[in-house]
Amino acid sequence: MKPIIIAIDGYSSCGKSTIAKELSKILLYKYVDTGAMYRAVTLFFIQNNVDFKNIDEINSALSKINISFKIDEQSQIQETFLNNENIEEEIRVNPRVAGFVSDVSSISEVRRFLVKQQQQFGIEKAIIMDGRDIGTVVFPDAELKLFITAEPNIRAQRRYDELKSKGKGTTFEEVLANLTKRDYIDSHRDDSPLMKANDAIEVDNSNINHHEQLELILKLVNEKIGSKPNKIIYS
Ligand code: DC
Repeated sequence: MKPIIIAIDGYSSCGKSTIAKELSKILLYKYVDTGAMYRAVTLFFIQNNVDFKNIDEINSALSKINISFKIDEQSQIQETFLNNENIEEEIRVNPRVAGFVSDVSSISEVRRFLVKQQQQFGIEKAIIMDGRDIGTVVFPDAELKLFITAEPNIRAQRRYDELKSKGKGTTFEEVLANLTKRDYIDSHRDDSPLMKANDAIEVDNSNINHHEQLELILKLVNEKIGSKPNKIIYS
């Protein structure tokens, strides 16, 4: 099977990483969650009181940042590390990270720093990467580009349920407001705004279930790699 690059873009909380993780297990491809990388940089900036408007402070902070991913042996879940510290939980539930990540990801220096690493990850292909600019900027020549969408209320409800299950006190309205704000900033920033690449295939999962979406995407993958993945595992 010819290894390919699968680029998955879309709005916040539309299930990009869930589908990307599933595909990576089925195809035995590497998976990179670029949102986690922007969240890691945001956490570092918050922890070190970096002034988002001061380019010197930003560059100096970036030179001290090392981001890596490791699979937890027990859970088989990929976790994000910032300078060798496991920050997976922190970047998902810390409201300050969610509050500032869109501002931090609008900074061109931050984008250049992370895009370079993301392109390195894909040198040998056989990779699935999700984010906002993967099909447009990081891998404009990716063999398969997906643009995942869902209605804002549905995305907010899914995110709210996820936070509630982790015991985080928040309201649906707060989640919806944060998501709407992030969508706006992500798609209106000057540097690499979120947009559907011309050759991306749009998948709206508002009214399809998880399995239907996976089946649909596996068909698209199959058309590109020219043979069926030998196993479909539903989790
Ligand atoms: O996918 P996520 O919600 O974890 O992403 C967090 C933020 O990072 C999101 O507001 C937009 C930004 N981001 C980006 O600008 N470019 C990417 N490739 C991935 C994420």
